[in-house]
Amino acid sequence: MNFKEEIKHKTEQIETIINRYLPTEEGYQKAVVQAMNYSVTAGGKRLRPMLMAESAALFTRVDEIWNAAEAGRQEDTTLGRALSLFMAALELIHNYSLVHDDLPAMDNDEYRRGRKTTHVVYGEGMAILAGDGLLNYAFEIAARAFEKAETVEEYHRIAVSMQVLSRKAGVYGMIGGQCADLAAEKMGAEVTEEMLLYIHEHKTAALIQAAMMIGATLAGASSEELDRLEKCAYDIGIAFQIQDDILDVTSSLEVLGKPVGSDEKNHKLTYVSMHGIEKSKEQVEELSRDAIEILASFPRRNEFLEQLVERLIYREK
Ligand code: IPE
Ligand code: IPE
Ligand code: MG
Ligand code: MG
Ligand code: MG
Repeated sequence: MNFKEEIKHKTEQIETIINRYLPTEEGYQKAVVQAMNYSVTAGGKRLRPMLMAESAALFTRVDEIWNAAEAGRQEDTTLGRALSLFMAALELIHNYSLVHDDLPAMDNDEYRRGRKTTHVVYGEGMAILAGDGLLNYAFEIAARAFEKAETVEEYHRIAVSMQVLSRKAGVYGMIGGQCADLAAEKMGAEVTEEMLLYIHEHKTAALIQAAMMIGATLAGASSEELDRLEKCAYDIGIAFQIQDDILDVTSSLEVLGKPVGSDEKNHKLTYVSMHGIEKSKEQVEELSRDAIEILASFPRRNEFLEQLVERLIYREK
């Protein structure tokens, strides 16, 4: 398989894994579950679960999760099961962050992944609840990884992963970044480069760090290896958000599936408005090269992962 086929294939398998854990649309809670599933099933790149699985593959063989998804069955090993649960959990948290990010009180956007946003279809109240529901449900799914753990070592790895997930999604992670992002809207030119970097690191890099660190933790990486991977994910995350800000200026609703010009509309100071498109593109490239260098320093080469990071530089959506 070439890279394009491989990424398509793996993305489909990630969808199979996510779909397995989605809540059922029934009872008095039906509307909120529908809103949750509306957001999660809309597609998207599934980058975070992909990075999680591929980071695990830097430390051990993970063929099992792909084979199991392909065969439509549950994974047999503790690692396979834990990985698939955390992959789904992180994608749900990412989706919750998007549902809330699009709300009128935040970025006030009406399109996401080529569809009307959750609050437009289900109303603001239901979108707030859907986000809350996704967040809680994510932790419920992740906690199920303990069910099949056998050794103290396995329990420990899952416990560390829970901790990484909650911290990187919380006030010292994604929520902290979204907080500074909102505050910066009112500051205009007073936003410093340092604050902009804080915003990018937390609102975006944090969940990418969670993805890569959890994959590595479950696969048995050492704490020194985890630190290196955290830095690598930081580079990938900052580059990813700069590219997102570039596309907000250069792309179109048709290609992107979400409105362009959202940042300008909300008076957001971005890397692009601060430094211009050219410098921003250079920065994306430089950060991505740094990340690939770190990836190549691990004893187990994962060429697919290196290629994935390389391709993200030129992504169009
Ligand atoms: C969008 O994330 C939000 C940012 C952090 C820039 P993605 O670009 O990964 O969104 P989907 O999941 O592919 O739609
Ligand atoms: C969002 O950044 C990061 C989140 C935590 C959701 P943006 O606001 O730029 O993301 P998009 O462009 O709406 O996807
Ligand atoms: Mg935003
Ligand atoms: Mg937004
Ligand atoms: Mg954006």
